This record gives sequence, C-alpha cells and structure tokens, in this order.
Amino acid sequence: MKEYRDHYFLKAKRENYPARSVYKLKELDAKFHLLRPGQHVLDLGAAPGSWSLGAAEKVGKKGLILACDLQGTTTTFPPQVIFIQEDVFNRSPEFENMLADYGPFDLVISDMAPSTTGTKFTDQARSLELALEALHLSNLHLKQGGGFVVKIFMGPDIQELLTPMRRLFVQVRSLKPKSSRSESKETFFVGLDFRG
Ligand SMILES: C[S@@+](CC[C@H](N)C(=O)[O-])C[C@H]1O[C@@H](n2cnc3c(N)ncnc32)[C@H](O)[C@@H]1O
Repeated sequence: MKEYRDHYFLKAKRENYPARSVYKLKELDAKFHLLRPGQHVLDLGAAPGSWSLGAAEKVGKKGLILACDLQGTTTTFPPQVIFIQEDVFNRSPEFENMLADYGPFDLVISDMAPSTTGTKFTDQARSLELALEALHLSNLHLKQGGGFVVKIFMGPDIQELLTPMRRLFVQVRSLKPKSSRSESKETFFVGLDFRG
C-alpha cells in the first residue's frame, strides 16, 4: 500500500484529481506544448478522469474533451468534458457519431493500459494492441498538424508502433515522465504535426 501513497498520490489528492496520472500529462504538455485553449481533444482510456480534467483546464470553456473508457467513472467533469463508456476495439454507433461530430481533433491522447496479467510479454502485447488502435483512431480523426500521445509498455515489438507513427507524423518523440513509478515499464510516445 505504501508505494501508492507517494508524493504524486498525495499531490493528486490535495489538488482534487482522481488519479496521479495527471502529472504525466502535465509533464508531457510542459515538454511538447500540446494543449491550447479552444482545442478538441480525444482522450482514450480516460477513467477515472485525471487526464480529462487536466486537459479541460488547458482547453478552457471553448474547448472540448471527448473521453472514453471501458470503465465508468464517478468523477464530476466540467461541461467541456463528454465522457462515454466504450471499448475502443468495439465502438458503438453512438461513439462513432460523436467522433464524427466533435472531430476532427487537435489532439488524441491515450493512457490506455490492459489489466495486467503479470506475464510481461502478454502485457506488452496487449499494450501494443491498444496503442495501435489509438494510432488508428488518430489517423481517422486527427486534424492535419494535430498531435498524438500514446502510452506503451515497452517491449521487443515497439517498432510495430514507431514505424507507422513516423509515417504519419513529422516528428516522433518519447518521454518517460518523472511522475511514472520507477518500476513501471511505461513510456509515452508523442507524434507531432500529423501529416493528414
Ligand atoms: C491508467 S488508466 C487511465 C487513467 C486516466 N488517464 C486518468 O488520468 O484518470 C488506463 C485505462 O485504460 C482503460 N482501457 C483499457 N482497455 C481499454 C479499451 N479497450 N477501451 C477503452 N479503455 C480501455 C482502462 O479501463 C483504464 O481505465
């Protein structure tokens, strides 16, 4: 239990975010200048809702966050966040309509993670599938010039993600945020300037 009550856990509690993961988004934004007022953002794997809250602060009232997750959430969001319970691999017509209505997006952010099995290769393979689906949705719904952030558990097949990312984005960068737990194998890749 102790490891969960670390600096970022306590900071998130103090600052009223439902999860410490918001600080990873803040680090990514500080480094790559991703979020701006008025943007439309697609947040994949959004529950319990820290990234959506953090992104909503930056895009402001004129922006919009379309957030989806397999799981529901009890987080209270500001009006610019629209949360829908949804599996990215099995998208409902309602979600497809929202993607069309609120898109194209300035930014797609994916913090999706599989429920871990403890078997490293299985977890990495599932994480890669989620990252590829997030990339697929970016390709369909990003504006030209838009950005993409994706979390992945690093594994030997990482080029399966990076090769198509390099084709779709002018720049591909990476960051392992300080706020990630040190034992975590997660890394974030950022695609900048979607070629469209
Ligand atoms: C680390 S959590 C996200 C935390 C979130 N970014 C926040 O700041 O509150 C990873 C999420 O990915 C979601 N997820 C996993 N597989 C998914 C799928 N197929 N479709 C949608 N969400 C998925 C999980 O339900 C989980 O809530």
